[in-house]
Amino acid sequence: MADNILVRAANGVMGWVNDRAPALMPMYRKHMSEYYAPKNFNIWYIFGVLSMVVLVNQIVTGIFLTMHYKTSAAEAFASVEYIMRDVEWGWLIRYMHSTGASLFFIVVYLHMFRGLMYGSYKKPRELVWILGMLIYLALMAEAFMGYVLPWGQMSFWGAKVIISLFGAIPVIGNGLTEWIMGDYLPSDATLNRFFALHVIAVPLVLLLLVVLHLGALHEVGSNNPDGVEIKKGPKGNRWSPTAPADGVPFHPYYTVKDTFYVFAMMVIAAFIIFFAPAFGGWFLEHDNFTEANSLVTPAHIKPVWYYTPYYAMLRVIPHKLSGVLVMFGAIAILFLVPWLDRAKVKSYRYRGLLSKLLLFGFAISFVWLGRIGAGPGTDPVETIIGRFLTAYYFLFFLTMPVWTKLDKTKPVPERVTTHD
Ligand code: HEM
Repeated sequence: MADNILVRAANGVMGWVNDRAPALMPMYRKHMSEYYAPKNFNIWYIFGVLSMVVLVNQIVTGIFLTMHYKTSAAEAFASVEYIMRDVEWGWLIRYMHSTGASLFFIVVYLHMFRGLMYGSYKKPRELVWILGMLIYLALMAEAFMGYVLPWGQMSFWGAKVIISLFGAIPVIGNGLTEWIMGDYLPSDATLNRFFALHVIAVPLVLLLLVVLHLGALHEVGSNNPDGVEIKKGPKGNRWSPTAPADGVPFHPYYTVKDTFYVFAMMVIAAFIIFFAPAFGGWFLEHDNFTEANSLVTPAHIKPVWYYTPYYAMLRVIPHKLSGVLVMFGAIAILFLVPWLDRAKVKSYRYRGLLSKLLLFGFAISFVWLGRIGAGPGTDPVETIIGRFLTAYYFLFFLTMPVWTKLDKTKPVPERVTTHD
């Protein structure tokens, strides 16, 4: 009885909304209940949704932090301490935000690696990849500016080192550095503009890019671990005679599956937030618990872990401008992957041993560079290793057109395999 009333009420509300906004229902169908996703998705396909969940967490906790944070070099550090000690649940909100930042990069790196493994960037999904790369750039800018806001020692010195890199550009370098900081050092002016960019400008860009990213994906449909285009396969399933036979409606099939993993991620996040929010200095650096001081340089200035692979490249190259070019080049080259990969098959499941080994080597080199970039940078052996790894990173991409063509591929099945 009560159920009936609830169902009738819900239908009534839906009918009312439908009459007034008839475009909403078709949109829901296109992107949820009639978006036919390949039925062979594996665990690598959860990270897109997890990235969205972390994005929402960052926005919500960020709004609450903004209510108590003071945007001035004189007050910022103390206002964060105030949030941690005096604001009700302030410590939780802050740790949810700081842990969320690192989790964001963990899930996004896994999401990108999935793309590399299954050739998800290949035709017709080049635009999905390009938009993803723009998201990655925006995310790096967002996290960099956010890290400056607590105005700790690493906020200040990290900002100084990174912004000063622009000084290596001939002719305009010094002027550009001053223009970005609004001063000769990171200062009140820098903090204010970074706050504006961090809380509104970049999040808006990020949200827009995520909408475009998903819009572009849903136009062409999802790839899958077999790299088989389900739209080109047979038609007709139990939901629709025209839908791909190997597709299942995203809602409820994948929404239910994803919900399980969202909870799993929340459990992991809770453990970090409650028991190890600084994560041994990886998520919140120890030096950042000391207020910024332009007269005292920390012993080791290093960025947070998610930038350290690129930072290592910068540091192992002795010439500053070359180092800066290599660092930015390492990110720029990722944009070109859809055109560098000339393999006939998408997924690594059907590629030869050479491609598998090279991709595995790439993952190792990226993580190892990250390890080197997080260290003090004083060990000469490590510097040499770092140079080899940087060379490997670039050669992996630059020679990709050759080895993807040379490598033997296995026959791709006509339809997706479910492995169950
Ligand atoms: C805020 C960050 C991001 C969000 C919220 C996001 C969201 C999503 C979602 C929900 C999907 C569909 C589900 C899935 O395949 O996992 C997806 C697919 C995809 N994303 Fe992202 N993404 C983000 C960043 C990136 C980045 C940085 C890249 C790569 C440069 C990327 C590349 C792709 C590709 C290639 C696909 C299609 C995968 C396939 O069909 O196999 N995304 N993204």
